[in-house]
Amino acid sequence: EEVKRLKMSLLSWYDLNKRNLPWRKISSENPHQRAYAVWVSEIMLQQTQVVTVIDYYNKWMKKWPTVQDLAASNIEEVNKAWSGLGYYSRGRRLLEGAQKVVKEMSGQMPNTAVELEKKLPGVGRYTAGAIASIALGEVTGLVDGNVVRVLSRLRMIGALTTQPDVMETFWSLANQIVDSVRPGDFNQSLMELGAVVCTPKTPSCGQCPVKNMCRAYSMIERSKERSTKKV
Ligand code: ADE
Repeated sequence: EEVKRLKMSLLSWYDLNKRNLPWRKISSENPHQRAYAVWVSEIMLQQTQVVTVIDYYNKWMKKWPTVQDLAASNIEEVNKAWSGLGYYSRGRRLLEGAQKVVKEMSGQMPNTAVELEKKLPGVGRYTAGAIASIALGEVTGLVDGNVVRVLSRLRMIGALTTQPDVMETFWSLANQIVDSVRPGDFNQSLMELGAVVCTPKTPSCGQCPVKNMCRAYSMIERSKERSTKKV
């Protein structure tokens, strides 16, 4: 049905068009190692643009390739590595989280979204879902600013996202449509679409893989038809 078509279209588009980002080629067979890498990248991406994060991420992973390496470091070193990224509490919480993983969890990252959110400082619902779906293959949906915009346009939901119940609706929708075979890629395809095609101003609807399923798009096309007929 339509949701299936949406998933197929988004995933095929993502496979062909995804940006080549360092945290997308984590080759490790070890889920704990993948979880650590996605954790670092998603924390850096929280308030910082992708282009800026790339360099910081690469340097961070070179300096502290594993959660154990990070845990053995200290706040001075972490702040130095974070210098220029802003919002330094993000780096501090990464260090605290790594030390907690090593001391209290025998070096094993929590392995579900619920546990990640519960146990890691600085990891909220979004970041927990990102780590769980991207690194661990957990079938869980994701909502960030990009996803809100994409889903709003697709379903023509005009709503105030500052309201908790409205955000609940988006989380529920995201959880309903997430692909059960490739949850991490599906979530990233929604974010990627929002970042490069379904942009806030002047979206590139012509290049959108799901425009034929988009209510906002069909509305705009119909109004264009009407105005050209009148002339
Ligand atoms: N923004 C934050 N994390 C992202 C990801 N994994 N893919 C695309 N955009 C993102």
